[in-house]
Amino acid sequence: MTHSGRKISLTGIKPTGEPHLGNLIGAIRPALELASDYESIYFIADYHALTSVRDRTELATWTRSVAATWITMGLDPKRTIFYRQSDVPEIFELTWVLSCVTGKGLMNRAHAYKAARDRNAAAGLADLDAGINMGLFNYPVLMAVDILIMEADVVPVGQDQVQHLEYAADIAGSFNHLYGDVFSFKIPMAVTPPGDSGRTLPGVDGRKMSKSYGNTIPLFAPESRLRKLIRSIKSDSTPIEAPKDPDSSAAFQLFENFATPAEVADMRQRLLAGGTGWGELKNALFEVLNRQLTPLRERYLELMAPDSELDGLLAEGAERARQRARPVLAGVRRAIGIDPL
Ligand code: TRP
Repeated sequence: MTHSGRKISLTGIKPTGEPHLGNLIGAIRPALELASDYESIYFIADYHALTSVRDRTELATWTRSVAATWITMGLDPKRTIFYRQSDVPEIFELTWVLSCVTGKGLMNRAHAYKAARDRNAAAGLADLDAGINMGLFNYPVLMAVDILIMEADVVPVGQDQVQHLEYAADIAGSFNHLYGDVFSFKIPMAVTPPGDSGRTLPGVDGRKMSKSYGNTIPLFAPESRLRKLIRSIKSDSTPIEAPKDPDSSAAFQLFENFATPAEVADMRQRLLAGGTGWGELKNALFEVLNRQLTPLRERYLELMAPDSELDGLLAEGAERARQRARPVLAGVRRAIGIDPL
């Protein structure tokens, strides 16, 4: 807990692509809703992205774009500690220390590492570690540090990150067991959404919207690109006159997430009755999205500009994060016997 007496909620966002509507519904909105009950800490996990992003322009652009997106969507940098992981060097020093109390066997069992080995096995490779870098292998340790160094109480994450949270608790436990007489970490807890279903959005091909499927609708695409993408949403060939099942339609599921309840009810009625084509639904979806995104797009582009206020905001956030991290790292150094000279 902090001096304000509120518990700390922390989460990291990996900048591995252009932010899209699925991120908004699945991650950004729920995280911003939590921000009112907790002292919140959000950061951009740019060094985690380095395990897979090899293009320097992409890494730089996506990092900036994730930051600009969160500010645009309402993250208040005064009430939230918001920073880039790479701006907090204490994280990397602690990563080494915690690597030294973490069993290699534990890392061997990590889902992402195992999945990479399984892919190599399936491809018939003799060396199951082919193409796997140490960053991927150590990923869970770095993530544990992100959490432990800020003394987070809760970490809102998707189901796919639950094992990482168990590892963070495990690693903290190992340290506390060895050095707890001098310094111990707070043990963090994952909070996962009750069921993923309510929070997932279909992409243009009808599958879950995800960068890995290449079916995303970017949040801040220019109007013409937005229109084109919405036109490309998969629909069946039911003729205009025929009654349609709204719930079978990806475009309608998107519409439900962005239109007003009255607009949704009206559209549902019209589709069920027949006489309304999928094209008309898509036009309505475009109008609704464009109405909401236009002012946000402008704000986003302002923040993305090279000398915008974004840099100052992130620098301030990093300073506040370091103020939290320094005493933790000092306690750790004392505990392990690396004192200041
Ligand atoms: N691994 C997380 C993801 O891929 C990102 C992340 C990095 C994170 N560090 C974190 C999430 C700390 C929560 C807490 O989405």
